[in-house]
This record gives sequence, structure tokens and C-alpha cells, in this order.
Amino acid sequence: MRKPVIAGNWKMNTTYNEALTLALSISNQLENNIKSDVILCPPFVYINEIKEIIKHSNIKLGAQNIYPKNQGAFTGEISPEMLVSLGCKYVIIGHSERREYFSESNSFINQKIKACLSHNLIPILCVGEKLNERESDQTFSIIQTQLEQGLEGLADFISDAPLLIIAYEPIWAIGTGKVASPEQAQEVHSFIRQKLEHILNPNLSAHIRILYGGSVKPDNCKELMKQPDIDGALVGGASLNADSFCQIITLSH
Ligand code: PGA
Repeated sequence: MRKPVIAGNWKMNTTYNEALTLALSISNQLENNIKSDVILCPPFVYINEIKEIIKHSNIKLGAQNIYPKNQGAFTGEISPEMLVSLGCKYVIIGHSERREYFSESNSFINQKIKACLSHNLIPILCVGEKLNERESDQTFSIIQTQLEQGLEGLADFISDAPLLIIAYEPIWAIGTGKVASPEQAQEVHSFIRQKLEHILNPNLSAHIRILYGGSVKPDNCKELMKQPDIDGALVGGASLNADSFCQIITLSH
């Protein structure tokens, strides 16, 4: 009932030539009948050329960040209008690396989500707990706060389930090779779905895609994807290799 989503978050990786080669190999390897939504989120500077490379495929383009203003004196930032004009459809919002290294707060993340929605961009809102928060039994309260504050005031904006994607990324699993067990992930995904029922229009929650992220690889994605509330993956490291990214896509449906 929910179409799987596999999104590749390239983060601050690849040179220009590497980026084009990677996009080309992914689009050549992917069968045309893929049953999942596939999204590439390369660094901003390569988006335009990658758009050309993937234009005959079903792959969609996403960005890794956005600034919540249309234009103006915001040196170094990228606006929703710019992304729309490049053919972007998705934006990763509130990734833990942005929360941590760039001090992004839940309220700033909320502004970014509003900016996306008002430009028909689909936000991929990332939530997740740190290791010490998990160990001190704060996982659910942290995630509840991230969802409530990140999505505050959005119940009326989000009129349809495909307009929002959530990614649960336990911070202790990102880039560490330490994937959450399918049961650990399912427990949080089901909690997220319950919370969305209260935060948004209750009918939408069952239809919103919730992705897992954190050391997803071809050898662990099948078990994760079998869980009833896991609808896909946000993939970092393994998305930088066309073979492993395409295997994850094939295993996702
Ligand atoms: P990882 O990154 O797959 O390298 O753990 C996931 C992410 O940060 O989105």
C-alpha cells in the first residue's frame, strides 16, 4: 500500500567527474520497471548536470538542504525557488549532521519544511536519537519532540500522504556500520506512525512513508524492509557505489 522509497544521500562526497560517473552507472544499472521511488541527493553543485543524466530514467532528484527564504542577502545559501528551477522534487531536512554541526533547531527545521511545502518540494524529515539518549531511555521522548516541533502547524499544509517523508536515523547507526536491528527500527517506526496520527490529519498517518537510515547495506536491507512500518531507506555510504545502491533498490520491493 505504501510505495517503497530508496534515497541516496551523497553528503559532501564526490568530485565533479565522480558524481557524473556515479549517476550514470546508477541510471544504466537500474531496470526500468523498478517498483520503488528512487531519489538521488547529490551535492548542490552537481544537481543540474545529474538532472540531464537521469532524465530518461525514473530516478528523482533531491537536495540535502535548503534555506527557508525565497531570495536575498543570505550568502552561501540555496532557496526553494532555486531547487525547483533545477527540477528538484525532494529535500532532506534536519539531518543529524546538520542538527549537530550547524546547530539546526527543531523550529528552524519547521521553517524549512514550511518553505518546502509552499514550493511543492517534498521534505524528507530526519529524526533520531544519540547513543546516550537511547541508553538513558530517552529515544521516544526525543523523537516525539523532533516530530511535534518539526511539524508544528503543518496539519493543514500536509493534505496528502506523499507530500511528506520521514526518515528515522538513529545517530549511533549513521556511518558506523552498526545498523539498528529490524526489531529496534520497527519499534520506533511504529511509534512515529502513531505520533503522526496526532500531529497531522489522522487519516494520513497510515499512508506516510517512513524510511530507515543508518548503515543500510545490501546485506541488511531485506530484513529491515520486511518490517511492517519500514517503507524504504535513506542510504549514505552505500549510495556512493552504484552496485550496492542498485542492489538495495532491487531488494526494496
Ligand atoms: P550511512 O548514512 O548509510 O552512511 O550510515 C545514512 C545517512 O546519514 O543518511
